[in-house]
Amino acid sequence: MTSPVLTVENLAKRFPTGRSGVFVNAVNGVDLTIAPGETLGMVGESGSGKSTIGRAVLRLTEPTEGKIIFDGRDITKIPEGQMRPLRRDMQMVFQDPWSALNPRMRIGDLIAEPMKLHLGLSKSERENKTVDLANRVHLRPEFLRRHSSDLSGGQLQRVCIARAIATNPKLIVLDEPTSSLDLSVRAEILDLLNEIREQTHAAMLFISHDLGTVKLISDRIVVLYLGSVVESARTDELFSNPAHPYSQSLLSAHLPADPAAKLERHVLKGEIPSPINLPSGCTFRTRCPVAKDFCEHEVPKPHHIGSAEHQANCLRIPDGGNRIAQTETA
Ligand SMILES: Nc1ncnc2c1ncn2[C@@H]1O[C@H](COP(=O)(O)OP(=O)(O)OP(=O)(O)O)[C@@H](O)[C@H]1O
Ligand code: SF4
Ligand SMILES: [Mg+2]
Repeated sequence: MTSPVLTVENLAKRFPTGRSGVFVNAVNGVDLTIAPGETLGMVGESGSGKSTIGRAVLRLTEPTEGKIIFDGRDITKIPEGQMRPLRRDMQMVFQDPWSALNPRMRIGDLIAEPMKLHLGLSKSERENKTVDLANRVHLRPEFLRRHSSDLSGGQLQRVCIARAIATNPKLIVLDEPTSSLDLSVRAEILDLLNEIREQTHAAMLFISHDLGTVKLISDRIVVLYLGSVVESARTDELFSNPAHPYSQSLLSAHLPADPAAKLERHVLKGEIPSPINLPSGCTFRTRCPVAKDFCEHEVPKPHHIGSAEHQANCLRIPDGGNRIAQTETA
């Protein structure tokens, strides 16, 4: 078996609130692995810790606890000076391409910038590679002389993707890369990312709050709730057999709205609790339709469901009570 590009063990991140001893528990004991060429989707509501995890694995934010192993090397605590040479192998694409790109630079220089920082190529080598990269992300060569204000959001995101692949990275973290784009453009960018991963064999961590988007690109998916992974599975398994009550409710909300199809939706009660004051036991219990008294006292551990790659953290899996009854019709 090939070794993973990224292994994350028991990652935690607590942000200070300014009040003594009071923290935002943004990430709470997350484990992840991503193999070369694999795309791992990470899905969860706003505030569930997705961006914090993405930033922590690239050491753009310091983890409070846990271990990050990148390409076989423990990078959890290495100083920034030692991180710098590794940065060419790990890149990030953000949600908002407008603020990710310097509006004063030409598109060609923006695409060439990571090569200048990391690859030590000559000017003509960089220029040739910039044209090649523009070609790979389907940007017309005349755009290379223009500025970001001349391009649409989708074209700018293509520039960001060209920058991300310019150094042939082993890992690309994509944090909601299609959320700020129109629906038709989203599909084009997802197609491009699928092409890129086949060409480059880079591992990808694809973050989104939208299960439908994650489904189109991911080999495996982890479902986050309040900074913890509640379920992880291959994409087809998650969609055909979601085991955690939270995943089941997310999936039912994702069903297409077709009144003739008699589709059932589970409607979650209540608001997501504050990460400053996490519920005891299972953190999902305040909204879980099948919670029992013991869910307040015991922290769920991962249970295997079928294949070795499918795990869910719910105390009711052994008794089958994790299945939500079809409660409400759309
Ligand atoms: N620098 C920070 N200081 C304090 N709290 C923070 C900081 N960054 C994030 N948080 C908090 O940590 C939690 C997780 O935030 P994060 O941005 O990782 O969530 P997210 O899943 O990416 O949300 P979204 O879908 O809205 O982007 C939130 O409660 C957020 O308010
Ligand atoms: S452990 Fe209890 S509260 Fe948590 S998801 Fe399972 S049934 Fe619901
Ligand atoms: Mg985010």
